[in-house]
Amino acid sequence: MTIQQNISLKNYNTFGIDVTANRFVTVTSVYELQQLLQTEKELFLLSGGSNILLTKNINKLVVHIDIKGISIDRENHNDIYITVNAGENWHEFVLWCVSQNYGGLENLSLIPGKVGTCPIQNIGAYGVEVKDTITQVEAIEIETGKLVSFSNPNCKFGYRNSIFKNEAKGKYIVSSVSFQLTKNKHHLRTLYGAIETELASKNIKSPTIKDISDAVIAIRKSKLPDPKEIGNSGSFFKNPVISKSHFLKLQKQYPSIPNYPISDSQIKVPAGWLIEQSGFKGKRFGNCGVHEKQALVLVNYGNATGDEIYALAQKIKQTITQNFGIDLEIEVNVF
Ligand code: EPU
Repeated sequence: MTIQQNISLKNYNTFGIDVTANRFVTVTSVYELQQLLQTEKELFLLSGGSNILLTKNINKLVVHIDIKGISIDRENHNDIYITVNAGENWHEFVLWCVSQNYGGLENLSLIPGKVGTCPIQNIGAYGVEVKDTITQVEAIEIETGKLVSFSNPNCKFGYRNSIFKNEAKGKYIVSSVSFQLTKNKHHLRTLYGAIETELASKNIKSPTIKDISDAVIAIRKSKLPDPKEIGNSGSFFKNPVISKSHFLKLQKQYPSIPNYPISDSQIKVPAGWLIEQSGFKGKRFGNCGVHEKQALVLVNYGNATGDEIYALAQKIKQTITQNFGIDLEIEVNVF
């Protein structure tokens, strides 16, 4: 474990923003992390860098979590319990599950990032959230260096949310995540419109988890930019939840507004639709812009700074407030 000086973080964040870490260290085990915590308390954690917008150089010690390993804890006829260390690549883990016929994560194929950050924002796509399969999260308490277990309820999961984005923020480092997956009688989630269409186009009537994973991969590839080609951080904003009365007023003006009822009084509306209606989709602003196929995704065309992307986000936020009276919330972490 060597602390390096003045390291560019361009290859450590999927937006591809070129900021510098004064000091940088890669940690490959819980033991190394605990050793580090004996002398260093002011850390800046960087895992897959897939949900962060960096706007300035970092003076704290940047810790790149690269703890690898997958272990099977136990299994019975129907289920398997697996613990995965934080540094494992998310999509590779999902593909491995699919290849072993372990069900539950197939709808979450091709999401960038590492396993350790999946519980933090409770990653979700195509009708599934990772909270549905997590049994436990193990994390190191920064103050004491001790390993602490969070049961699923104690993680306080919500839509793109968890305890790690709230009261536990900055206090813990996730070291591993445990999952309960199915070995047979898989609970297939195919109702999300685009999945049904994709399966139908291939004439698949009784899909396997591999079929669903393949469908999700195809859909994501058709809509979302590959961070290796165009820097981005997936959805930049959360989909806002508004009151039913607010929604009904908007629906009068925009009869085609997509909507997902959350409760009797609350409706979720897609931020991508609001942004597209406001004319931003596919528009370029200097070095950055709004993706041409999914307006919820801001992109770096190569040399954007974090500030440029943040300024674009603010412009979008203001326009959405003016046009729809909705306050968009940024989903990625801005530093
Ligand atoms: N829409 C538009 N224009 C756009 C984008 C979307 O009109 O440019 C409309 C679509 O027509 C559709 C609705 O918005 O009616 C929803 O679109 P989509 O299915 O693409 O999903 P989303 O709500 O925009 C969310 C997640 C994505 C996830 C997809 C699929 C959030 C913030 N984003 O996007 O997650 O992949 O659903 O489940 O909830 C991410 O978090 O980084 C991410 C990519």
